Amino acid sequence: MKNILTLEELNKDELFELLAKAISLKKEPHSEEGSLYGKSVALIFKKSSTRTRVSFEAGVYELGGNPIYLHATDLQLGRGETTKDTAHVLSRYVSAIVVRTYAHSDLEEMASVAEVPVINALTDDHHPCQALADMMTILEKKDRLQGIKIAYVGDGNNVCHSLIIASALAGADISIATPIGYEPNKEIVKTAMKLKSDDSKTFITDDPLKAVSDADVIYTDVWASMGQEEEHQKRIKIFKPYQVNKELISKAKDDALIMHCLPAHRGEEITSEIIDSTQSVVWDQAENRLHTQKALLWTLLGERQ
Ligand code: CP
Ligand code: NVA
Repeated sequence: MKNILTLEELNKDELFELLAKAISLKKEPHSEEGSLYGKSVALIFKKSSTRTRVSFEAGVYELGGNPIYLHATDLQLGRGETTKDTAHVLSRYVSAIVVRTYAHSDLEEMASVAEVPVINALTDDHHPCQALADMMTILEKKDRLQGIKIAYVGDGNNVCHSLIIASALAGADISIATPIGYEPNKEIVKTAMKLKSDDSKTFITDDPLKAVSDADVIYTDVWASMGQEEEHQKRIKIFKPYQVNKELISKAKDDALIMHCLPAHRGEEITSEIIDSTQSVVWDQAENRLHTQKALLWTLLGERQ
């Protein structure tokens, strides 16, 4: 495992090993202190971030390394130095490069020449670090992933794509409800289908009630992602029937977990009543970003390397 551009880079065993390591780091946060001693990690962000940035910075620090946060506009990248040249140079200074960018191809370009691991901190198409924390959260709360029914309601976006791949690897069932025209990317779904075991199910519909029926987990994300701000008003109208609210969640199991990668637009994709309800696990999900990313960094860069 060198890069984490999408979760396809992991196999099922690696996924479960990583989750086990994250769970152990959550119990003993300082158990791998020093495993990144003397190592720096560059964190390049072209989009805003609260969770990803802070959890990576804190995580690298807790492992004894040095996180270097770089907003793309502060780098020569913002003045036209190429992605590849930047990757060549950073590889001579740091032990890994974490990148949040727009086009997924931008990240692939960086990884094609980087001499150190490249980790996806979100692109327009994938958010693998989020899905790792999501799987950890479900595993913690439900004690298993195999056979768990995850219902994703909303936009077929980056978060949805990584959740489909993670569910396929983990043996969870996933049902997705999106408006017509906002379905997940067919190629990504096809890839996930190749990863999944025969008994795990994937169902894509435009009917949110069908998707959440008897679900163990209901997951949603914003209707307009970063970079789609100008479509916000149009999307609010199209996505209205997909709001996660009291009525929708009543069709799922009584103990269904409510999940959201955050940030949330309260009153749009989810009501405040539901995100603040006892079924909601969004704060645990956010916390688990730290533990799963520490496990990932330890696996890629830690002492055992
Ligand atoms: N969920 C997530 O990636 O949040 P940030 O955009 O705040 O990093
Ligand atoms: N789909 C959202 C996720 C934010 C963490 C976005 O890309 O803006």
